[in-house]
Amino acid sequence: MKITFLGHATLEIQINEFNLLVDPFISGNPMASNVDLDDLKPDFILITHAHQDHTLDVEKLAKDNNSLIISNFEIVSHFQNMGLNGHPMNHGGKWNFDFGELKYVNAIHTSTFPDGSNGGQPGGFIITSNNKSIYIAGDTALSYDMKLIPINYNLDLAILPIGDNFTMGYKDAIIASDFIECSRILGYHFDTFDLIEIDQKKAVEEFKKVNKELIIIKPTEHIII
Ligand code: NI
Ligand code: MN
Repeated sequence: MKITFLGHATLEIQINEFNLLVDPFISGNPMASNVDLDDLKPDFILITHAHQDHTLDVEKLAKDNNSLIISNFEIVSHFQNMGLNGHPMNHGGKWNFDFGELKYVNAIHTSTFPDGSNGGQPGGFIITSNNKSIYIAGDTALSYDMKLIPINYNLDLAILPIGDNFTMGYKDAIIASDFIECSRILGYHFDTFDLIEIDQKKAVEEFKKVNKELIIIKPTEHIII
């Protein structure tokens, strides 16, 4: 799997011949000004929750690329009502897509669309393909439910929010990495706005102190697992 960070909580994931885009928020993100929406060709768009900083570019990208939108029932219904393609899921459920197995898991957050309409409950994803599993937490607090994940999955990478204020901060992300039994963490959802600014160096050091790895990369940079 090739995982490219596109700023804030947006990820591009290449699995075999399939291109997945998670939580596209590019046109409204000055930190992602080097990302051209028209260069993105997602076969699948995964959405953790309905907030604007996770859904802003879904409509355009899905229309331009005939993408399959995967999220909770309410979010998928919202986009299906616009004539877009969707696959609804809900918490605890998994499905085998062409790119691999996808599970929609619990997150503690909210999920209202920018216009106030119902975006269901927020979630995260576990993608399993080619004998690798990654956990994309979405916007979430630290939660005891994370302890359920390693019962079924041996994670190779976890993508956790570290910006605090709207989600857990990096100190709670260290505890989360214990709960999910994964010591390799890609941090996201930080530094985009004043309210989620962090000391990146300190965050990386705090992980190191407990023999864990916090990976911080710039928009358009990628890691391969
Ligand atoms: Ni949010
Ligand atoms: Mn967010």
